[in-house]
Amino acid sequence: MVLEKESCWKLQKLQVENFRNLKGSIFSFGPGINCILGQNGNGKTNLLEAVYFTTNRKSFRKNTSYAQMINIEGASPEIVIKTVFSDGVENIPYSLRITESAEERYLNNKLEKRKFVTSSVFINPFDSYSFHTSGSFRRQWIDSHISLGDREYRQVLTRFQKSMRFRNSLLGYQGKGLAAQLFAIDDQVAEYSALLTQRRYEFLGSMNQFITATFREIFSEEHTLEMALESLFTHWDKKRIFDFYRHQESADIKAGITQVGIHRDDFIFSFDGLNAYEFCSLGQQKMAFLSLIFAYIELFRYKFTSYPLVLIDDVSGELDGQRWKNLVQYLEKKSFQVLITTANENFGKELEKIPASKKFYIEHGTLINHG
Ligand SMILES: Nc1ncnc2c1ncn2[C@@H]1O[C@H](COP(=O)(O)OP(=O)(O)O)[C@@H](O)[C@H]1O
Ligand SMILES: [Mg+2]
Repeated sequence: MVLEKESCWKLQKLQVENFRNLKGSIFSFGPGINCILGQNGNGKTNLLEAVYFTTNRKSFRKNTSYAQMINIEGASPEIVIKTVFSDGVENIPYSLRITESAEERYLNNKLEKRKFVTSSVFINPFDSYSFHTSGSFRRQWIDSHISLGDREYRQVLTRFQKSMRFRNSLLGYQGKGLAAQLFAIDDQVAEYSALLTQRRYEFLGSMNQFITATFREIFSEEHTLEMALESLFTHWDKKRIFDFYRHQESADIKAGITQVGIHRDDFIFSFDGLNAYEFCSLGQQKMAFLSLIFAYIELFRYKFTSYPLVLIDDVSGELDGQRWKNLVQYLEKKSFQVLITTANENFGKELEKIPASKKFYIEHGTLINHG
């Protein structure tokens, strides 16, 4: 695949004030691997969260709000995040001011409404377990990663979820005129379902071009990985989905809930043709999960001709020594910027050996040492 000229935005400077326990230290990151070291509870994840919030406009933590993010001991009622991004040619200041009621973003010191030019991808190796064991976790993971690169998908997904909540409340309440109301809402549900299913297929089609190759590139093992969607609505158009819901109506009324739909569709991850969860060792499941995310990062670059920022949190003993070495070598080889955290001393030592990496030691939300 031929790539157009790449402009990859990298985070050069970061200063975070009043965000969780972070105390305003200035971080000067390198363009390659940046290791954030420090014992548990000192603010490593908070630092990644601040970066993610800056680029993706939301947290990677579930159900977190301003009240949880603002420093509980802070005297000032606003979070300030100041950054400088660079694409190697241009340096641009980008900053955020967040209060209870407003969020202002300044690009080049001018108030900015649109999303910033780059995004972050967040990787927590512990999520591998949830990904392999929970269908709803997989669905959320896929939905949020499609949304990151597809604004329309995100908007339609939000509308779908709203329609589905409404449909379920109608079914639960069963008031007057139920049939007519279902008829009307199903028109929307069918339209959104058709579009989202189609996009999910397209996304998996693209991802599958990268997953196996990425796995082999990182771990040098000859396995074949694939992600598949299991959906009743495969290749169905809006009308067919609408007719299905008409047919399904009395059963749904009886159950008081929408029993079938894309909100329950599952994604199956297979490893050499077998279900990864059922047939893989835990180590293989983690390798498969990491390969999936790095495949996503490759797809992102292919689509936007620029890598996202890669945030890897809390690397510890999930993989054996050799496989972590493989991953570190992969990161070294790639041209994306990585912020990687660990509280694990052995892995920390492994990272310190990387010649071109920068190290940051955090204690109580403060940068105490770097090199
Ligand atoms: N709103 C907040 N104000 C102040 N401290 C916070 C806030 N939210 C979380 N913390 C603190 O942040 C610390 C956890 O930071 P975290 O980044 O998760 O640590 P780790 O280095 O283990 O990744 C905890 O000590 C927690 O009390
Ligand atoms: Mg952490």
